[in-house]
Amino acid sequence: MPIKTQICETSDQVAHNAAAEIVALIVQKPNAVLGLATGSTPVKTYAELIRINREENLSFARITTFNLDEYWGLDGEHNQSYRHFMNNLFFSRTDLRLWNTHVPNGVAADPDLECQAFETKIRASGGIDLWLLGIGHNGHIAFNEPGSSPDSRTGLVEIAQETIKANSRFFNSAEEVPKQALTAGIATICDARRILLLATGEDKAEAVKQAIQDPPSSTCPASFLQNHPNCTFILDKDAASLL
Ligand code: PGA
Repeated sequence: MPIKTQICETSDQVAHNAAAEIVALIVQKPNAVLGLATGSTPVKTYAELIRINREENLSFARITTFNLDEYWGLDGEHNQSYRHFMNNLFFSRTDLRLWNTHVPNGVAADPDLECQAFETKIRASGGIDLWLLGIGHNGHIAFNEPGSSPDSRTGLVEIAQETIKANSRFFNSAEEVPKQALTAGIATICDARRILLLATGEDKAEAVKQAIQDPPSSTCPASFLQNHPNCTFILDKDAASLL
């Protein structure tokens, strides 16, 4: 199934379109199950959802969420953990119930059990209605780096050197960036009924082009989204510039 695209003038429009689709889902299904992502790209979408939750009287109290990934070795209190990011930038600013939010535990005693439990909880929730994704410069989705299999399930993985470098902007140095992460697998992500991938900026244009136009392969993990029946990339014109 070809990946559908929405090409927007600005990153604000990308956020507006993404939030509008999520809101439409919640209106239709107040107990929707959302898959969420961290990173810089979805921050404006979360800001728009917070505004709608507060100003337009749309409750998120019955929503369940699952996040894509977490750094291995960081607990949820660490200011660079993805649990911290989500609590701070989204969950705590809405009426979402924290006990309905799931981010893999980066300091779990047993990573395999943690990952199995994550998959089990997704299934028990009825599956993800919509998963919001970003894309890495190397074509990764979550921490499924180049070389990842389309059959991968939630697990402990190595973070690519390129990603460590990109993410070092949030740490004091590249040495401080964890080298491993717990990540939902490509098959886990592709089980979602709907996928929205957001990308903004010229630096994402090559990865976006490969994901949409190259044959699906582990060279660009996002290209496996071509196998999903209902996946849309919402792009600003810079990220879409090589299409
Ligand atoms: P970004 O990260 O939104 O910060 O660019 C995306 C990603 O690495 O998946």
